[in-house]
Formats: sequence, structure tokens, C-alpha cells
Amino acid sequence: MRQIVTTRNGGVEVLQIEEKPDPIPKSGEAIIRVRAAGLNFADILARQGLYPDGPPKPCVMGYEVSGVVEALGEGVNTGLIGKSVVALTRFGGQAELVAVKATQMFDKPKSLTFEQAAAIPVNYLTAYALLLVMGSLHEGESVLVHNAGGGVGLAALDIAKKVGAVTYGTASPSKHKFLVERGLDHAIDYRSQDWLPVLKELTDGRGVDLVIDPLGGGHWKKSYAALRHTGRLGMFGISTASATGFQGKLKLVKAVLQTPWFHPFGLLNRNRGVFGLNLGHLWHEPEKIALWMRDIVRGVDEGWIRPYVDRAFSFDQVGEAHSYIEERKNTGKVVLVP
Ligand SMILES: NC(=O)c1ccc[n+]([C@@H]2O[C@H](COP(=O)([O-])OP(=O)(O)OC[C@H]3O[C@@H](n4cnc5c(N)ncnc54)[C@H](OP(=O)(O)O)[C@@H]3O)[C@@H](O)[C@H]2O)c1
Repeated sequence: MRQIVTTRNGGVEVLQIEEKPDPIPKSGEAIIRVRAAGLNFADILARQGLYPDGPPKPCVMGYEVSGVVEALGEGVNTGLIGKSVVALTRFGGQAELVAVKATQMFDKPKSLTFEQAAAIPVNYLTAYALLLVMGSLHEGESVLVHNAGGGVGLAALDIAKKVGAVTYGTASPSKHKFLVERGLDHAIDYRSQDWLPVLKELTDGRGVDLVIDPLGGGHWKKSYAALRHTGRLGMFGISTASATGFQGKLKLVKAVLQTPWFHPFGLLNRNRGVFGLNLGHLWHEPEKIALWMRDIVRGVDEGWIRPYVDRAFSFDQVGEAHSYIEERKNTGKVVLVP
């Protein structure tokens, strides 16, 4: 089988296609013939050497796939053979075949293409946990979604609209028209202006009930300042540090130095909450993931979960796919097809 190997830290030239023996399923595992694999920002940070959760290099990245079950290990329901599924993969998803624990597989919604289905697991589970589980977003509340035009951003918009929240979103200006068509109430250009005063003006100085922030560093301080009373800040990434080589290390150090501390008395007196989310640290909670996924798949059937694939790149074009995201050209999901 062919795999996309991140051979070492560096630019897109370190990504190579390599032939490897087909995987053999262990007990409790299934082998999926991959039809589409999600490309996530984490894959880019890993290539840049800025993602501590990634496997040692050389490695095959990939947190999610859609495909067809081809083989099963001991103890797995034989009825699964030939089923179309989506799955979370603890790396290795960017390959023609991948072994996954059967508990990490879910039926592919019939109405979706394989490419659309591969856009579900990471983006929608992250958005679901941020908005509904930890962020407790309620009807009539307001939410600020940073990087609203990205994969997680669009997923968060779908969920916020379903809840009946007022949505504010930061994104590069080229994405604003699309975002408004998708239902975003207020699009903010955060590239050419300071988004915080704009948000304050839009909310009559009050701020919002929930901010989800994958930018990190000093942005978390600003996002905290954007909360109204009983507001919550969900922190889930440090994309502000993204860069290749020495520049990336510098940006990471800067982000760490600018990271705010939240004192309990400050939270108490301002009626605010802060929380962090890392989906990659939830592998030991498959029951929770399965519950959230059940709601998400129901949302697909009901029409309010609408995974949006911007572009599908072939495995051979993986370098272009990375650059496409790094250059902020993507609106929604980028997937890789074998
Ligand atoms: N903690 C978790 O469990 C978890 C799970 C999934 C994703 N995440 C994080 O969530 C963020 C979004 O992930 P995603 O996979 O959905 O990717 P994505 O949103 O498709 O990421 C690409 C977009 O991010 C924006 N961006 C912000 N800073 C950037 C930078 N320095 N360089 C390039 N683009 C930048 C750009 O859009 P605009 O310029 O339009 O804003 C770009 O188009 C990432 O930080 C990721 O690490 C965390």
C-alpha cells in the first residue's frame, strides 16, 4: 500500500509517498480501505516540528478517514466487512489502508460522499465538544468563532446555528461572502484590523457569551477580554505559531511568552470561565466520542450538519494541499484521496 510519509521536520518537500506492506488487523481492529483522508492543521504543525502530540518521524499522519472495511481482527463483528465507514485514526490515516480499533469506526452517513464524510470526525467532534459540551452554548447567546472559514470554524457555525446563537466570526476577508451565505451573522476581518474593538462595537460594548480560540498566545488574552459576564473561553490550538524552520520555533516561544494566566479570583469576580480542549487526548473516552458522533450523524440526516469540502487533493499532491492551508486559501475542509 501507499502512504504519505512525513520524513522529517521541514517544508513540504519532506512529504513523500512510500510503499509499505499492507497492515494486518490485531484483535479488536478493522482494516479500512481509505477513500478519503482528512488533512488537519495538526498535520501541518507536525511537519513543521511544532506538534508535540505527533508520532516520531518518519511518520504517517492522519487523524481521520472514510472508506470501506476490508478485513477484521479477532472479536470484531464480521457483519462489518464491506461497510462504508468514517473513523478516527490515531495517525496513519493518510494511507491506502489503515488499521483502527473497531470502536473508533462509525457508519458513513449514506447521503454524504466519501470526501464529505472524511470532513466530519475531527472538525465536528471538536466543534461539538467546544460549543455544546464544554462551552454550554444556549439559544439566544452569542459566540465568536475564530478562523470561522476553516474546517472547525464551519463546523462550529453549523452547530451554533442549530442552537440558535448569534454568530460572530473572524476570517480572511476573501471568505466573508461564503461565510455569510453559510449563515454567519457578523464576519470580522482580523487580518487588516484589530478584531476586538470591532467586536465590542458590534455588541454595544458587551462582548460575547462564548469564544472558541485556536490561535493561541496573546490572542487568548484578547479573546478573554471579549467575554461578557458568564462568558466562557475555549482554547484549542496555537495556529499563530505556524511557520517552517527557525521562524516557527521563534513564533512558538513568542506565543508561549504571551500566553495569559487566569487567576481564580479574576474568574470569580468577572463571572467568567476558561477551558481547554484537545481531541487527541480523548482516546480513552470512546463512549463520549460515540455519543457525540451519534448526534452529529443525526444532524447530517436532519440537514443541519453540512460538512463542506473545499478541495480534494490526490496523495501525489500532498505538498500542494499543505501549502493551500498554510497560505490560508482553504474555506472549509481539505481532504486527500489515494
Ligand atoms: N485541540 C483540538 O482538539 C483541535 C482539533 C482540531 C483543530 N484544532 C486547531 O484548530 C485550528 C483549525 O484547525 P483546522 O484543521 O480546522 O484547520 P483550518 O481551520 O482549515 O486552518 C486553516 C485556516 O486557519 C487560519 N489561520 C490562522 N492562523 C493561521 C496561520 N498562522 N497560518 C495559516 N492559517 C492560519 C486561516 O484562515 P483565516 O485566515 O481565514 O482565518 C487558514 O485558512 C488549528 O489551530 C488546529 O490546530 C484543534
